Amino acid sequence: MFYKTLNNGVKIPMLGYGVFQTPPAETAECVRQALEVGYRLIDTAQAYGNEEGVGAGVAASGVARDEVFITSKVWVSNMTYERAAASIDESLKKLGTDYIDLMLLHQAMGDYTGAYRAMEDACKAGKLRAIGVSNFYPERLVDVALLAEVVPAVNQIETHPFRQQAEAHANMVDLGVAHEAWAPFAEGQNDIFCNPLLACIGANYGKTAGQVVLRALMQQDVIVIPKTVHRDRMEQNFDVFDFELTVEDMAEFATLEDPSVPRIFDHYDPATVKYLLGEFVKKNQLNGATLY
Ligand SMILES: NC(=O)c1ccc[n+]([C@@H]2O[C@H](COP(=O)([O-])OP(=O)(O)OC[C@H]3O[C@@H](n4cnc5c(N)ncnc54)[C@H](OP(=O)(O)O)[C@@H]3O)[C@@H](O)[C@H]2O)c1
Repeated sequence: MFYKTLNNGVKIPMLGYGVFQTPPAETAECVRQALEVGYRLIDTAQAYGNEEGVGAGVAASGVARDEVFITSKVWVSNMTYERAAASIDESLKKLGTDYIDLMLLHQAMGDYTGAYRAMEDACKAGKLRAIGVSNFYPERLVDVALLAEVVPAVNQIETHPFRQQAEAHANMVDLGVAHEAWAPFAEGQNDIFCNPLLACIGANYGKTAGQVVLRALMQQDVIVIPKTVHRDRMEQNFDVFDFELTVEDMAEFATLEDPSVPRIFDHYDPATVKYLLGEFVKKNQLNGATLY
């Protein structure tokens, strides 16, 4: 496993396991298996409705709590100081832990500066080891990084071969914020697992297209958190530490950038913001999630 040291000295694994869209009833077993395979970072969120499953999976795994790095995220319905503070306590309860390793603001929406202050205070109180943001575009990240008391440790944004986020990455490096990729496989879109260039690079090492993606992003100093509910894919996605891509491979990987591939969530699109404030929440509630 590779680790990265965050700007507050906390160490985060460079490869983790995401549980967005993992059904709440299956989450505990998936997380238990992921920990058995070797993952030590689990990425959940209040809005995923499966924090309880994550807590149960960690407990069932037998892996010591201090060996597992748990990330969760404050949802947009909690973007005030008071609601964010209460929701952090609720997340702790659901996860069955007295601290969360990394708490992120899920979106730059609502009173996120108030919510960020609540995270700063929860960090001081020892409830959170590190705090950060997600889906903050470069100008929003500068705003929070320069005005907040605590510079975000992480910004988790959509990052995959077709949207490598070089400019956003440079901005994060400048601010001392670690870059974490959500949807490193572009959620399977654009036929990524059969991409000829990725497959060709992988063939030199006996690796799949997906393994090349994870390795390339880590070599770009990006933390990756692929999601799968299948044990064989958990193992495949974890098996990326015994080869190294060359400078030439990385140059080829860079050519996969493709602005014509639509963003998975385009926060510049009012319809996306409406969806996140409404339908997204309803959809998760239908899946049995309890939102705050
Ligand atoms: N902060 C945010 O706003 C945000 C947004 C999205 C995601 N995230 C986080 O990022 C994590 C990863 O992103 P994501 O879940 O959206 O998408 P992703 O990891 O890019 O892709 C997941 C998809 O790829 C499939 N898959 C995984 N490994 C595979 C393999 N080796 N071969 C073939 N198919 C494979 C999965 O199917 P199966 O499960 O059927 O195997 C699933 O359909 C999430 O789980 C979540 O923790 C955060």
